Amino acid sequence: MNINNQLFCFFDSSDNNVYAKYYGIEKQNVNIKFYNEKSLIYDELITTNDCAQLLFTIKEKIDIKNIKILYNDSFESELLKYLSFKRGGSNLGLIKVCEIANKTKIMVEIGSYQGESTAIFSTYLPNAKIYAVDPWQNHYDAKDGSSEDYDMKDVEYNFDIITKNRNIIKKKMTSEEFSFMIDDESVDLVYIDGNHQYDFVKNDILKWIPKIKQNGYISGHDYHMFEDVRNAVDEILGVPDIIVEDNWLKRKTYSEEMKSFLNNKMVL
Ligand SMILES: C[S@@+](CC[C@H](N)C(=O)[O-])C[C@H]1O[C@@H](n2cnc3c(N)ncnc32)[C@H](O)[C@@H]1O
Repeated sequence: MNINNQLFCFFDSSDNNVYAKYYGIEKQNVNIKFYNEKSLIYDELITTNDCAQLLFTIKEKIDIKNIKILYNDSFESELLKYLSFKRGGSNLGLIKVCEIANKTKIMVEIGSYQGESTAIFSTYLPNAKIYAVDPWQNHYDAKDGSSEDYDMKDVEYNFDIITKNRNIIKKKMTSEEFSFMIDDESVDLVYIDGNHQYDFVKNDILKWIPKIKQNGYISGHDYHMFEDVRNAVDEILGVPDIIVEDNWLKRKTYSEEMKSFLNNKMVL
């Protein structure tokens, strides 16, 4: 049997997981076979998607709790291709942030979810140390429907795969908790994409502004998508320097007047 361009999925009834093994899948003509425990084919699917997209397709197609990927060397690069595919235009905004903050040595991402944006930062800021901060708790944002889409255990599992062997340090905690562990003026870039409610965004900005070096950058997602995000950003930082595909960015070059304004805010 020719195993090239195939994704083998094994359903294990003992733990209710699907184990997927990937063999050099290219973008076209992917053949997925589902086996039962006796290695008998019980379903087959041929699609033209690429590898990681398929894992999600499979997950929707059959009622399973989880997909465990039997990792191989080329999986990661396929996954990145998929991420570019799946995130579509919104990658350009993240790439633009990386281009502007290209001297970044230390970065903090608040809200990493399954590591898609984190992997893009890692690819475009290869010399940076990237802290990925997320508590991976279910029901994390009552106003964000997507917080109910998946069990966060599965989301965290995907994060671990996507960010494996990269310049990424996982911090399983809230933005606020991690901010207490970081020195003032030590971070080059903070990217905020956690809880999108006004009080949370405001708190993220106020907690992290002091941690950013002068001339460093504060940035984030969903400026237009969430009114709460826009209101908090505009109120505390003013209109962003740039907004690219809903990613906002502002350089930390504050006057003394702005510093004292922020200090007052932080006391409140
Ligand atoms: C919209 S998702 C992030 C998407 C990700 N940045 C991407 O583009 O692929 C929001 C994430 O923020 C996390 N989150 C919620 N509250 C948080 C907090 N207080 N601190 C850090 N992360 C938080 C959630 O667990 C969730 O994974």
